[in-house]
Amino acid sequence: MSTPVSIAILAAGLGTRMKSKKAKVLHHAGGMPLVEHVVTAALEIAGDPSRVVTVVGHQAAAVEATLSSYGTGHVLQADQRGTGHALAMCQPMLEPAGGLVMVLYGDAPLIRVETLRGLLELRESTGAACVVITAELDDPHGYGRIVRSDAGDVAAIVEQKALRDGQDAIREINSGIYCFRGDLLWKLLPGIRPNPASGEIYLTDMVEAINAAGERVVPMCLEDPQEIFGINTRVELAEADRILRERKTTELMLSGVTIVRPETVTIDRGVKVGMDTVIEPFAQILGNTEIGEDCTIGAGAIIRNCTIDSQVIVEPYTLMGTTRLERGVHVGPFARLRQDNHVEAGAHVGNFVELKKTRLGAGSKSMHLAYLGDSVIGAKVNVGAGTITCNYDGRKKSPTQIGDGSFIGSNSTLVAPLQVGEGSYVAAGSVVTSDIPEDTLALGRARQVNKPGWPSRRRGH
Ligand code: UD1
Ligand code: CA
Repeated sequence: MSTPVSIAILAAGLGTRMKSKKAKVLHHAGGMPLVEHVVTAALEIAGDPSRVVTVVGHQAAAVEATLSSYGTGHVLQADQRGTGHALAMCQPMLEPAGGLVMVLYGDAPLIRVETLRGLLELRESTGAACVVITAELDDPHGYGRIVRSDAGDVAAIVEQKALRDGQDAIREINSGIYCFRGDLLWKLLPGIRPNPASGEIYLTDMVEAINAAGERVVPMCLEDPQEIFGINTRVELAEADRILRERKTTELMLSGVTIVRPETVTIDRGVKVGMDTVIEPFAQILGNTEIGEDCTIGAGAIIRNCTIDSQVIVEPYTLMGTTRLERGVHVGPFARLRQDNHVEAGAHVGNFVELKKTRLGAGSKSMHLAYLGDSVIGAKVNVGAGTITCNYDGRKKSPTQIGDGSFIGSNSTLVAPLQVGEGSYVAAGSVVTSDIPEDTLALGRARQVNKPGWPSRRRGH
């Protein structure tokens, strides 16, 4: 078994440059709060949630609430006295666990699990007391710079403000992501003194402390600096979102999903899509949506937390939430399947049809301009254009049931609670206020009267 790893996620900072009432790490990219990306990566590495601790400060309660379902630990850093101080807050929780200690930032969500595995491997193979992830940037301004020893190890990390002659030419920067040998970390960290200029305790000062103890600090220089990108502004937030979305569409395309103009679609991380499904431009597929094989998701469709079986067509500009579509269903364009619907195999929901808490049976059709709420509609029912279930009387919601094989004529008003028996007909334009038995035609409208000659008498000739 390899050495166990604990992970500290530093996330106490406010993030002033976000210009927000909300803590920086709670802003979303790729469909989830920044800090959640980091926590999920940390959990994959550490395995056990009790080995992951987030350092919270600004809006600590909100950050803890966001992470509560993961079962990871938290420590409060009431005053942000530097990265070294933040990590020291974790000592009581992480020291007893032993093993290695990895440090991640809550505002750097792009780090990949494979890269963190590489960090552990390099730590193992070099036996170093610390491995630090670095990258060469064209514009290293603002970052701590890596000062290499003759042997190519890290001799020191120098913060921007402390750079001496020539050091600002160093393009290799500190990512802030490290893997420490826990025993040495917890021994040396309490000895780091506050930086004289800022009064903060710099975690970067650990490098010189480790070197002075005769141990090695080894750099792991990334080919692609994108992964260590930290978010400070909303412009950077949008860039991180773009990168996370691009990773998702690439993963889906490589697994056999066709995405037309992938740069335009928005697909959350937890979404699953089957082979040979086609996703058209500007579709948004969100939350824990699952889509089967051979489906088409039309342009501009917005689908959140839905389950879609195979061979389903969702036409453009359809909005769907918490809805299940069975095999071969066809919905849209411009349909709204608001919440908690279940559309059974082969059913059709057409344009400007709204469904809410409604079950539409196999092979049934509601093709145009309808509102079906709190309804259970059987198989092979035809719901005519303009049908409205009046499910709300101003006080309470009531259900509508329509039996198999019924035909609801166009522009019918179905006043709930209402039951329509199997194989019955509702004449077009009816207002239906009482139950209809099976195999019955219901007419709920005034009989038409024709008055010959009335128009010309009115015109006076
Ligand atoms: C730090 C590093 C720098 C590195 C850079 C990479 C130090 C002294 N410097 O600089 O070498 O190039 O990260 O981005 O470590 N945090 C806390 N509590 C604190 C201070 C910070 O939780 O008391 C958290 C912040 O919320 C943030 C992270 O730690 O997520 C980094 O802090 P930040 O102040 O941004 O560090 P930098 O000055 O950018
Ligand atoms: Ca920073």
